[in-house]
Amino acid sequence: MNSLHYQSYLGAVAGVARDDYAAHRRAVESGEAIEVASKDGRVRMGLAPLPWDSDILGMPAMRVRDVFHAPGAAGDYAAWDQAARRLDAALRKAGAAFADARIRLGDYAALEAFEANGWRVKDVLNIYYAALAGRTLNETPREDQNAIMCAPIGPVEAAAVFSRCGRLFPEARMRNDHVIPPEVADAFYARLFESVTAREGGVAYGAAVDGQYAGAALYREDDGLRDLGFGLAYLWEIFVRPEYRGRGLGRRLLEAVLRDAARRHDAFEIGTQVSNLAANGLYCAAGMRLVANAITLHWRR
Ligand SMILES: CC(C)(COP(=O)(O)OP(=O)(O)OC[C@H]1O[C@@H](n2cnc3c(N)ncnc32)[C@H](O)[C@@H]1OP(=O)(O)O)[C@@H](O)C(=O)NCCC(=O)NCCS
Repeated sequence: MNSLHYQSYLGAVAGVARDDYAAHRRAVESGEAIEVASKDGRVRMGLAPLPWDSDILGMPAMRVRDVFHAPGAAGDYAAWDQAARRLDAALRKAGAAFADARIRLGDYAALEAFEANGWRVKDVLNIYYAALAGRTLNETPREDQNAIMCAPIGPVEAAAVFSRCGRLFPEARMRNDHVIPPEVADAFYARLFESVTAREGGVAYGAAVDGQYAGAALYREDDGLRDLGFGLAYLWEIFVRPEYRGRGLGRRLLEAVLRDAARRHDAFEIGTQVSNLAANGLYCAAGMRLVANAITLHWRR
């Protein structure tokens, strides 16, 4: 079975041989996920509840956590449509009010079947990747050292900083879903960043100009690849307060987290909306490689 998950690029780029379908089977067999398939079994998906999201959104939420097709079935609209209809039935049976799914951009038969069954596109992501081994990173230019400070911040300070930054990030998918009120989307991102910061391995950096707090960045190891002995770090957020943008702070924060991550991880991944020109510009300027595109869909009863 071929995976439609955007991270399937990792096998090619990082040389990590992982079997997503075997992991899917294990999740289904352990009861962690419900399997939904087309009649001929050539399209299969895993569906799982999202307790954390359900709590914040105030409605039962689920996720299509993985999507697979048999070799040659990628363009078989009838199979995708059948699976998407069954998915709709499974979501209703499970009592879901909201669901999300992420597939690779370019899998148009799957996308069309999702859309025909009520799913709506909420964002399109560019995924960037950098190998960290042997990476040499610019050190802070000397003349900046007094004016701009870029340093790790502890969980308490980081939680306070990131709880306020959701509003600075208008492209995010939860902010583009009109059934989710803006204050709920803000609370969602505040809680998300708070939990990433508080969990083991969460690393936050803050930037200050002349002692004034001006921006921050947050990354954490991606859990999925640890068992394979590959350390992938994932950037959850980077932002610079509007009045400090265009002065090189974003670049400094990104370099600081890449340098920090290079000490214990093999590679670094960042996803950002294709519409976010500043973020795409920042990652390209830092020499990161665009390795995948993903599309996020939302469903609601
Ligand atoms: C993305 C962001 C962090 C950039 O911070 P910044 O301090 O303004 O960026 P810098 O001044 O360090 O710019 C570094 C490089 O990024 C690129 N860049 C920055 N802003 C850009 C813009 N508006 N358009 C295109 N490229 C841009 C440029 O290549 C720039 O290099 P250059 O000045 O030599 O051309 C900032 O715009 C931001 O906070 N945005 C809102 C939050 C957000 O969307 N975060 C990304 C989440 S994935």
